[in-house]
Amino acid sequence: MDKLLTDQFKKIIVERTGLYLRTQDNEKLIQAVNRRTAILKLSSAHEYYCQLSDDSHSQSPEWQKFILMLTTAETFFFRHKGQFGLLRDHILPQILWKHRHDRTMRLWSAGCSTGEEPYSLAMLINELLPDWERWNILLLGTDINASAIAKAKTGIYGDWSFRMVDPDIKKRYFKYKSGWVIDRHIRAMVTFRTGNLRQDPFPDTASQIYDIDLILCRNVFIYFTFEAISAVVKKFCAALTDEGFLMTGYNELHGQNLHNLKARSFQTSTIYQQNNVTKSQMPGITSKAKSSQSVKIGQSGTALTAPPNNRFAPHVTGDFLITHSQSDKKPASEPQPSNNFTVSIETGLPEKADVRAIDKSAKVTPDDTADKIEALYLKAKSYANSGKLAKAITFCRQIMAMENSDINSCYLLACIMQEKGEPETAKKYLKRIIYFHPDYIAAYVELAALYEAEHDFKWAKKMWLTALNLLAQVSPDDLIAPYDQVRALTLTRHIQHLIGQMD
Ligand SMILES: C[S@@+](CC[C@H](N)C(=O)[O-])C[C@H]1O[C@@H](n2cnc3c(N)ncnc32)[C@H](O)[C@@H]1O
Repeated sequence: MDKLLTDQFKKIIVERTGLYLRTQDNEKLIQAVNRRTAILKLSSAHEYYCQLSDDSHSQSPEWQKFILMLTTAETFFFRHKGQFGLLRDHILPQILWKHRHDRTMRLWSAGCSTGEEPYSLAMLINELLPDWERWNILLLGTDINASAIAKAKTGIYGDWSFRMVDPDIKKRYFKYKSGWVIDRHIRAMVTFRTGNLRQDPFPDTASQIYDIDLILCRNVFIYFTFEAISAVVKKFCAALTDEGFLMTGYNELHGQNLHNLKARSFQTSTIYQQNNVTKSQMPGITSKAKSSQSVKIGQSGTALTAPPNNRFAPHVTGDFLITHSQSDKKPASEPQPSNNFTVSIETGLPEKADVRAIDKSAKVTPDDTADKIEALYLKAKSYANSGKLAKAITFCRQIMAMENSDINSCYLLACIMQEKGEPETAKKYLKRIIYFHPDYIAAYVELAALYEAEHDFKWAKKMWLTALNLLAQVSPDDLIAPYDQVRALTLTRHIQHLIGQMD
């Protein structure tokens, strides 16, 4: 396929989907085009181009098959612990307070892939609002990929979708029946539909996309052109209700003109809020006196207060996990986070330790290197769990200065760098692990995910195949570190599925 035709394909792909294919994605594009041309028994790639460009709608069967070969559907429950903590402790309570009288709430997971993201939101709502059935809640999940939406509707998942989730959540909301089947009430909370952020007009009453209180659009714009992001953000602003929220992935709106949105920076994430200053502010944000009013949320039916003053003060969220363990010291009027609901941090680490470990590690008086490393690692992990990434990095680096082949600190650094949106540095740490520990399977899996996110499918496949080789050398029942509850067989099947999707 010559450069001209390649560029023509890229142009219609951007027009229809917003997806940006870089030079390193050419090989993947050419493979996809050749494959569809052969299957359709067309005489040339050019003929396939003519067929695709005549077909104006991205939901047509042919566009669907083509898009499937170009998009990344990677997702899992409670992806990004910091963002879900922010939603649970600040954003959702504010939305609930705002709607305490009309009892309506409209949430949209845009680019939801196989549904883990909107279902995670449904689980949070179930925790925060025990009488949610008496509310009128729209929880919409949309994606351009029709087969991802079909899977989302089934509500059945493999172990891999839970790789960062507290096992208690899995126990509470899922039952195993040849796959993990989501609780029917949670499933009923979410409406799934195919939708194309680039092409679909919104706000639009027919598709229920208007007056939205919260839009989650995470890890979608990383594949979009700058112009496509601008166009979609503009539509998002119009679809949001006054002071509605928009949450994207880390740094995905970098350089965009956001004059209709104000950025609210927390330590773990930034969230954007529709900038309509003429509308009345919520009680609790503007008035300290009003913050003692209560709204009934919380699983036990406890009356919790409205969001208090300064909820948007920086660092509040980052401190949450530390204060959480000392909740008895908090004044009674402070809203208490739901303490029966903890989400695992997206660090790829076993989840048991929480921030209380900071105190514990402070009491450790290490007298040899191994103990020192363990104590430092406990601190690093605990700070990472609380969103204090700079501190976590400092402790990891101290460990590496003592033992430069230490897997745990290196892996934690790689996860932190991913969280910070620095994939190249993350890769550096993963490669370092491989250099010292060539049989550490998780390093290949994470590297593959990073390459896949960049559409470098050749290297992603190489990494997956290496992981498969290593998995073949262990028992199918072996737990694979550092993932929580992921066995070799599960991981093997998952990787085989991912490779199958590429071929
Ligand atoms: C990496 S997944 C992100 C899933 C989830 N939001 C998360 O963060 O885990 C990106 C999703 O964006 C979807 N997508 C890409 N272009 C889209 C478009 N133009 N309209 C709607 N969805 C799109 C893909 O099909 C894919 O499922």
